[in-house]
Amino acid sequence: MTTISLIGYGKMGKMLQQLSSQRDCEVVSIIDPALPSTEITRESLNQAQVAIDFSHPSVVVQNIEHLIELSQTCVIGTTGWNSELPRLRDLALKHDMGLVYGANFSLGLSLFSRVLKSAVQIFDRFEDYDLLAWEKHHNQKADSPSGTAIELARLILANSSRKSEVVYDKLDRKVQAHELHFASMRGGYIPGTHVLSFDSEADTIELSHTVRSRSTFALGALAAARWIAGKKGVFSFEDVIGDLLC
Ligand SMILES: NC(=O)c1ccc[n+]([C@@H]2O[C@H](COP(=O)([O-])OP(=O)(O)OC[C@H]3O[C@@H](n4cnc5c(N)ncnc54)[C@H](O)[C@@H]3O)[C@@H](O)[C@H]2O)c1
Repeated sequence: MTTISLIGYGKMGKMLQQLSSQRDCEVVSIIDPALPSTEITRESLNQAQVAIDFSHPSVVVQNIEHLIELSQTCVIGTTGWNSELPRLRDLALKHDMGLVYGANFSLGLSLFSRVLKSAVQIFDRFEDYDLLAWEKHHNQKADSPSGTAIELARLILANSSRKSEVVYDKLDRKVQAHELHFASMRGGYIPGTHVLSFDSEADTIELSHTVRSRSTFALGALAAARWIAGKKGVFSFEDVIGDLLC
């Protein structure tokens, strides 16, 4: 049994609590400004083996800093702190603790990324095909582009000899051959959707991943929590999946 502290008790926090017993985890503390436990302290963490943060991009860096100060093993699901990753990784390593981070804790998305990597390498050999991508999310999503879009763009650039730069903003000019245009749309109740399109004059091939339920992220985060409990080091969710697939 892995004991868990939930940091953020919104849609994801509630889903994690609901599914924890199915994955041999027990929620022993919940921290959220809307609840009596509002601050991350040794007391409020209640000796949980792993803290799981699904809070808000505006507070996640501060939350991670508090967790590092306490050398608290943690899983960070909240997105929007990409630029701070190198600094916080170093800080966590100095504190000799365990931390897993991920822009997308869905097993399906992780497998999709592997398919996408192979597809980019295959299409790269055929100059007729250009590459473009887009992502859609519901109107409550706080960050744009999505953390997943940033990860996927990185993977595409690393595996394409023709695309060397990603452009997320709207273009008021022609897209250049070396640019990957990755657009974001927000509205309604759209579940997270990421699409990569290989486009030639003759045809279009699209690879897409669409989330059907938040449970996919919660189950992935619980699997990561069980994996990191008792370990030290900083790992991406991809590292965890890679290890579990071995
Ligand atoms: N990595 C993934 O797989 C994944 C999947 C889904 C969502 N997310 C991200 O997780 C985050 C949360 O998503 P959600 O749908 O549960 O959002 P939500 O708005 O439903 O809930 C966020 C909760 O965090 C709380 N909160 C705000 N400040 C806090 C603080 N300082 N400490 C603790 N809690 C605080 C809010 O009161 C709220 O209850 C978002 O950034 C979202 O993009 C990531």
